[in-house]
Amino acid sequence: MPISETLPIGSLLAGLEAAGEATRLRLLALLAEAELTVSELVTILGQSQPRISRHLKLLVEAGLVQRHREGAWAFFLIADRGAGAALARDIVARIDPADPTRLADHARLAEVRRARAEQAARYFAAHASHWDHIRSLHVPEELVEAALRDIVGHAALHAVLDLGTGTGRMLELLAPLAHRAVGVDQSPAMLNVARAHLEHAGLRNVQLRQGDIYALPVERDTYDLVIIHQVLHYLDDPARAMREAARALRPGGRLVVVDFAPHGHEFLREQHAHRRLGFSREEIEGFMQDAGLAIVSHRDLAATADAGDMLTVSFWVARDPRLISDPLPLTAREVA
Ligand SMILES: C[S@@+](CC[C@H](N)C(=O)[O-])C[C@H]1O[C@@H](n2cnc3c(N)ncnc32)[C@H](O)[C@@H]1O
Repeated sequence: MPISETLPIGSLLAGLEAAGEATRLRLLALLAEAELTVSELVTILGQSQPRISRHLKLLVEAGLVQRHREGAWAFFLIADRGAGAALARDIVARIDPADPTRLADHARLAEVRRARAEQAARYFAAHASHWDHIRSLHVPEELVEAALRDIVGHAALHAVLDLGTGTGRMLELLAPLAHRAVGVDQSPAMLNVARAHLEHAGLRNVQLRQGDIYALPVERDTYDLVIIHQVLHYLDDPARAMREAARALRPGGRLVVVDFAPHGHEFLREQHAHRRLGFSREEIEGFMQDAGLAIVSHRDLAATADAGDMLTVSFWVARDPRLISDPLPLTAREVA
């Protein structure tokens, strides 16, 4: 049980009053599990949108919940900073996990997540064959790949892991540098396309695995490079994906995240299953630090002025801070 920070009586009372109602207590428990939109909370709790919004407003005002707006959507999450954060977590920690109401809410949350994941999976299944065209919505791919090569360098790598590998383009790019490379994706359709690409490229050191980015079917403490390229904006819990990615890193290994900088293209949500409209530098760096990694660098690749409203692509690099006991890179003979 975490020990609360102390609060002035007025703030403590405001927090307790905000939490002291059945729906709001349930909201707190749900928002401790996942970042959710109002419409998702409406589905889970079966109450009207104005009611849920009113409860959320009270929780936000008392500092127990954080809200962040992004385009037409607003996301809510239990507070992780400010005086109310410890109080909110203490209150949630005191709710019996086996309480029937909590269990039912948890089951409906799992249902909402499953429905969302299926919707994204349908999108990827439908777009697998022309995915490489969709990628051209942002700054030219050649520039992104050149920047990535620059970041990764030319030293030989032992093991590379590509999360949300899609059509396997990152593996095509990085596997030649590595002794072995593994790509994970939840979509069998995408993996079929990746398999064909990698065979065509003659890459024999690559393995593809179907799996969830939140529960990776890979070894821990193993990979000296993990890449998450254009995947996080589809996820409902990018911080969790980052923690899972960090577990796969060997001591001293690097995590490279490539995604969009914040933008306002709502159509990517409506037509392309995006959940998040890009990420700020600070947000991804916060996820990386929370996953126990040390920040190495950040870089933006902005579209040129004549490229209309193409999206800026950002690169974040972090490193596992543990000491390297078995120095890299490998010898050229091992790589060959
Ligand atoms: C936009 S594609 C990017 C593919 C590749 N990284 C690239 O840049 O070409 C996103 C990929 O993430 C995969 N994906 C989405 N959610 C996932 C999850 N929870 N677990 C594993 N893969 C996921 C999708 O199936 C899709 O292939």
